[in-house]
Amino acid sequence: MERKLVILGAQWGDEGKGKIVDLLSEGYDLVVRYQGGSNAGHTVIANGQKLILHLLPTGILHPHVKGVIAQGMVVDPEVLLQEIEELERKGIDLRGRLIISERAHLVLPYHKVLDRLFERSKGIGTTLRGIGPAYMFKVGRKGIRLSDLRNPVRLRDQIEEGIDFVKNLCEKVFEEPFELSADQVFDSLLSSYERIRCYVGDASGEILSCGGRILFEGAQGTMLDVDMGTYPFVTSSNSSSLGLANGTGVSPKFFADAYFLGVAKAYTTRVGGGPFPTELTGKEGERLRDLGGEYGSTTGRPRRCGWLDLVALKYAKEVNQLDGFIITKLDVLDTFEEIKVCVAYDIEGERIYSVPASLTDLERAKPVYETLPGWKESTKGISDPARLPQRARDYISFIEDFTGAPVIMLSTGPKREEYLWLREMPTSRASCS
Ligand code: IMP
Repeated sequence: MERKLVILGAQWGDEGKGKIVDLLSEGYDLVVRYQGGSNAGHTVIANGQKLILHLLPTGILHPHVKGVIAQGMVVDPEVLLQEIEELERKGIDLRGRLIISERAHLVLPYHKVLDRLFERSKGIGTTLRGIGPAYMFKVGRKGIRLSDLRNPVRLRDQIEEGIDFVKNLCEKVFEEPFELSADQVFDSLLSSYERIRCYVGDASGEILSCGGRILFEGAQGTMLDVDMGTYPFVTSSNSSSLGLANGTGVSPKFFADAYFLGVAKAYTTRVGGGPFPTELTGKEGERLRDLGGEYGSTTGRPRRCGWLDLVALKYAKEVNQLDGFIITKLDVLDTFEEIKVCVAYDIEGERIYSVPASLTDLERAKPVYETLPGWKESTKGISDPARLPQRARDYISFIEDFTGAPVIMLSTGPKREEYLWLREMPTSRASCS
């Protein structure tokens, strides 16, 4: 196992990172979440139990792992408490094993009000968890950080300022009633803080002083990155590898020897609005949705489904400088006679081989497909590479040749044990290019 491993979403999120991080965390000492918030829903099925973690690092389910919620995350204290309490009820004790950065910003009830209002006019299709507004407040220097909770007098003023701002917008711009009071927000925040203050600390220091192995757990995916994704149909953090340094509060130099893996489904999904060149809107899309159980783990919304977009995947490899891929949900394609993969975009008659920055171009991009034969055999749950059908192998080779990155592992079902290694992880980044 690599001393520093970064696991990133290589598509539009929901690639199955939860299961992969859970699986690989076994070999790590520290698991770090560093961007996003409770918009994420990392699903783990272990010992017959299904758990969806929104804020806590997935690796924390292993008793030997310490988890870090780093400064780049936006933390909803109520969701965090619910999650901690759910784990406690299941007998998972986090004391001494969880560090929440005192520099992390809070998601507050008025951010959720704003999220709803903006959605009404803009229609990004957000998770309505207040994520965009919380980051807006952070960058706009109106945010409240966990460290601010130590000073209740100042905190009361900060909340009042936030409430006034949102109340004005709500009543004067959106002409909506605004119900929240500063007292309500203040009281509930302080009461949550009482329960979580024992976990608040110096997250960057914890990372820097860790003598063991560290796994960095990305949330969402590269195509949802606020800078590199399909802007404005993105989340509000850097969900590609670009978010690592500012999200952890640790210099980019620290990650120079890390190993970067991108997780991608064997096909493509996205939730919310925005361009999706390979989307299948008819029966084939429904078939993928049904076979893959493609409903959001945070919001329950049906996911939009389509063929594998290799142009986007290659872009993710380049943006993140990925050393390899982990492909999930291969088994969902088991029954297809033919499987298409997008190898270029056609924009007004011109062939394009990369993801354009312009939303207008992306919206006009038509997929250029290559058709590969299906393997028509079950790959569900297999863990022995020898049992992988030749045509499934060919499909994987096609991905590798096109993207120029090796596929290291396949996930063949939702359970912890349903996976297989195709290659060993090289011991250094230099040896796997
Ligand atoms: P937000 O992050 O809630 O602001 O939502 C912005 C966009 O990112 C919407 O299209 C969401 O559906 C999408 N999104 C946010 N988090 C996730 C995730 O964990 N998986 C997939 N899509 C996500």
